[in-house]
Amino acid sequence: MLSRRDVVKLGLFGVPAVALRPGFAFEFLTDSRLPRSPTVVPFQTELPRPSVIQPINPANFPSPAPPALPNTDYFLVSQHKSDIEVFPTGPRTVMWTYNGTFPGPTFIVQKNRQILVRQINNLNEPNTAITHLHGAHTPSDSDGGAFTSQIVPPGSFKDYVYPNDDKYAHTLFYHDHFIDFTGRNIYMGLAGFYLLQDQFEHALVSQGKLPSLDFDIPLAFHDRQFDADNQLVYNTFDHDGFLGDRFLVNGVIQPKLTVANRRYRFRLLNGSNARFYGFALSTGDPFTIIASDQALLGHPVIVNKLIMGPAERYEIIVDFSRYPVGTKLFLLNAEQQENGRGPDGFDLRSAVPLLRFDVDINNPEVNPVAIPDPLRSDLVLPQPKDVVKTRRFEFNRSDGAWQINGRFYDEDRVDANPRVNTTERWNFKNGGGGWFHPIHTHDQGFRILSRNGKTPPPQEQGLKDVVPLAGGDEVDVLIHFEGPNNIGKYVMHCHNAEHEDMRMMLRFDVGP
Ligand code: C2O
Ligand code: CU
Ligand code: CU
Repeated sequence: MLSRRDVVKLGLFGVPAVALRPGFAFEFLTDSRLPRSPTVVPFQTELPRPSVIQPINPANFPSPAPPALPNTDYFLVSQHKSDIEVFPTGPRTVMWTYNGTFPGPTFIVQKNRQILVRQINNLNEPNTAITHLHGAHTPSDSDGGAFTSQIVPPGSFKDYVYPNDDKYAHTLFYHDHFIDFTGRNIYMGLAGFYLLQDQFEHALVSQGKLPSLDFDIPLAFHDRQFDADNQLVYNTFDHDGFLGDRFLVNGVIQPKLTVANRRYRFRLLNGSNARFYGFALSTGDPFTIIASDQALLGHPVIVNKLIMGPAERYEIIVDFSRYPVGTKLFLLNAEQQENGRGPDGFDLRSAVPLLRFDVDINNPEVNPVAIPDPLRSDLVLPQPKDVVKTRRFEFNRSDGAWQINGRFYDEDRVDANPRVNTTERWNFKNGGGGWFHPIHTHDQGFRILSRNGKTPPPQEQGLKDVVPLAGGDEVDVLIHFEGPNNIGKYVMHCHNAEHEDMRMMLRFDVGP
């Protein structure tokens, strides 16, 4: 089967697009013939919460035995196809999964407690698999970057070791990162949550300042397109980025969530390939942003809308205590988007309700405590005075594909070589043309120092690992490369998954 890169090489533009249906022969369809997804009566199904994966005794691993590591918990994941109940009625959807669910099981891990995850590729599909833990500070060998050396072909496995030595608790996700096929592989279902906790957040929870796990719910947003049999449709040749016409929350189309009249913490993940979301409550009421990709924010930010690009995570507190039991309200997506180029703007008049909240449980907080401000008093951000090197990266379109500084991704070419324990300024510039590029760095998150010459908005003032760039945007970020185990090769790329697969990526090597 052809990768996007082959398409460019072979000059195959203008040929009919291939719509992928897992388990079936490829069908040739032009874009205009892509079927619309079957209609659904929304808000029938209760929101699923992906199950939390439990560690197992390594003696129970299939042979060979994993390495015996000190102070390590062991997890086993099988990547295989599974029938998922995405639609409330009709056939189940064949998806590619971690342990049979979509999203995959949620990891809940503690800072500085190492884990080993054996990923077994039972997918029986070409161009699988590489597993990346997005947002983690992972030694290069376990990072699952887009490198040939990281491929785990069908029938084989890899033991990934995650030290969990990120500086702060945060919300991560794991997903497939196969060279040139990341977009398709994520789309087919290879994604799951990974929550890193630390003492600081445990203390906030035990003091009642943040909701406890029962009221702390990860929400993954995916757009997907389906054929008449409820099966996924994907257009490999849509280089702008593939959009679906149905919205899934935790793997179900437009579910409902029964909530108590109290505060909830929601961990929002934009898991879509190319779609931006503009979240708002149907009541117009405000909610509070408490965390961005890499940590709690310095200060809570009260907003009534929140725009999120692909792979971004924000955590919010929604206060349902203001609504009488019996109230129904919606989480809306008001961001308009027609194609993979990027969003067209926030418009509540044509918003789509993604999730219905049914305030049906009378269980108010006994002594509600205000969200602390400062939230994360120990948050240390990289400082301009520590910058030892400035690098410039411009993101552009070329020949129907995507470049950084005029070059396509080449896993054998090192495009930047920062040194461990130093701070650098990376300047990201969108070369224009109307395409959005959400830029992501492996190995380390960053501080956004400026956006178009100005201080970034408050929710962008914490630690991030994805920064969306609209056409012409220019941001400066500060990255501190923490050592000493993260010496080696990593990638930086656009997280519009189709741009990434069409080569908007580069390799950087962190040196001693
Ligand atoms: Cu979310 Cu390179 O990854
Ligand atoms: Cu990543
Ligand atoms: Cu892009």
